[in-house]
Amino acid sequence: MLEIDRLTKRFGAPGEPALFAGVSLRLAPGECVAIMGESGVGKSTLLNCIAGLESVDGGRIVLDGTDLTALDEDAFARLRRRRYGFVFQAFHVLPHLTLAQNVALPLWLLDVPDDAAQARARAMLGRVGLEARGDDWPRHLSGGELQRVAIARALVHEPALVLADEPTGNLDPERAAGVLGLLLECIRGAGAIGIIVTHSQAAAARADRVLRLTPGGLQPEAA
Ligand SMILES: Nc1ncnc2c1ncn2[C@@H]1O[C@H](COP(=O)(O)OP(=O)(O)OP(=O)(O)O)[C@@H](O)[C@H]1O
Ligand SMILES: [Mg+2]
Repeated sequence: MLEIDRLTKRFGAPGEPALFAGVSLRLAPGECVAIMGESGVGKSTLLNCIAGLESVDGGRIVLDGTDLTALDEDAFARLRRRRYGFVFQAFHVLPHLTLAQNVALPLWLLDVPDDAAQARARAMLGRVGLEARGDDWPRHLSGGELQRVAIARALVHEPALVLADEPTGNLDPERAAGVLGLLLECIRGAGAIGIIVTHSQAAAARADRVLRLTPGGLQPEAA
C-alpha cells in the first residue's frame, strides 16, 4: 500500500508559493493511476519526490508501513533499487548492452548472480513479446520495441511500485496504445502499484483512476 499524505513541494525560498501542496493519494497493490496536468505543473517533480530523488517540503509518503520521508539518502537509495521500477519517455535502454543485459541491470544492482539474472531477464523479455531477442542490440529495435524492453527492465525485479513518466510520449498513437496496455497488464499482473504520468486522454482512460495535478493537489479528472 502506498499512502501519500498532503505532500508539499517548493523550489524557491520558504516564503515563495509552493509548486504543489496538499497532494494526497492512496494506492493498493495491483492498482494503476494516471496523472495528467498542464506542462510545468509538477508531474515529473511529483514522481521524483515519490522516488526520493527530490526532497519534499511537507507531508509524508508511506510505502507498506515505511515512512519514506524519514529515510536518509542511502536508505532511500537501497529501497529504491529493491522496490521501485522506472519507465521513462526516452526509454534509456543502454546501447552497448544486449537486450537481456539491459533487462538484467536491476538484478545485477541487487547482486543477483549473473546466470539467474540473465534467465529472469529472458523470461521477462518473453512477457513483453521479445523472447527471441535477448542477444540482440538496442539499435536494431523500433521505438515501441525499445519501450517494451524498458517495461521488462522496470518489472524484472518485481518492484512494489512502478513510476512511469510519459512512457508513450515518443511513440505514435497506435504503438502507444499497445505499449501502455502492456505496461498496465504487467503492473497489474505483478500486483505492483503503477503511477503513470501521461498527456494522452486515451492512455489515461485505461488506468483504474485518472487524476489531475494542480497546485492545490490531485483532483479526480472529469470524464
Ligand atoms: N530542480 C529544480 N529547480 C527549480 N525549479 C525546478 C526544478 N525542477 C523543476 N523545476 C520547475 O518546476 C516546475 C515543474 O516541473 P516539472 O518538470 O515537474 O513539470 P511537468 O508537470 O512534469 O511538466 P511537463 O508536462 O512539461 O513534463 C517547472 O516550472 C520547472 O521549471
Ligand atoms: Mg514532466
